[in-house]
Amino acid sequence: MNTAALPNLAFPGRDKLIAAVDAALAGSDEHAVTAALRNSMCALIRDRDVQLPDCVFDPIDDHYARRELYRSAEHGYSVVAMTWAPGQGTPIHDHCGLWCVEGVWDGELEITQYELLERDGERFRFRAAGGMHAGPGSAGSLIPPHEYHTIANASGDTTAISLHIYKAPMENCSKFQPQSDEWFLRIDSTLKTDNAPA
Ligand SMILES: [Fe+2]
Repeated sequence: MNTAALPNLAFPGRDKLIAAVDAALAGSDEHAVTAALRNSMCALIRDRDVQLPDCVFDPIDDHYARRELYRSAEHGYSVVAMTWAPGQGTPIHDHCGLWCVEGVWDGELEITQYELLERDGERFRFRAAGGMHAGPGSAGSLIPPHEYHTIANASGDTTAISLHIYKAPMENCSKFQPQSDEWFLRIDSTLKTDNAPA
């Protein structure tokens, strides 16, 4: 593999962040790994040595920004920073079967989990199964098959920043378009990353 081509931005505390993530991956299974990553994430958000690159603090007008900061050649995981302008959010989506740990770096986010009640081909029936209002320093994890959720910045005036560690780069996922009542239509979606100048 040509590791020089992998995303790898320079920023203060980058090595500390990567070392913490690498250490958490020593867990015996995905539950242990994501639990360790949640703890590491909470500590990293509060660690003044770690300062995400400036680009992460720039929202993009017409969509929430996804900037890949790092991809591990050794372990395969991907670190993505997301920038949520006031009112920006996602539809219900899955994570393509990948576990993920997500932390709120700055601002506040509403995260709503959905329970899959039934499926008829490409039509899925969901019900909101709980939500949380997450502030800076909090972290949660998703382990498939419990992966259906939305994220939104409900603030009217403050940008939010979140940091996501995926088991592997997530380049596709399913998004779910509301139909009627609790039914949604599954749409295959390609996820783009926004430019993150090195
Ligand atoms: Fe997600």
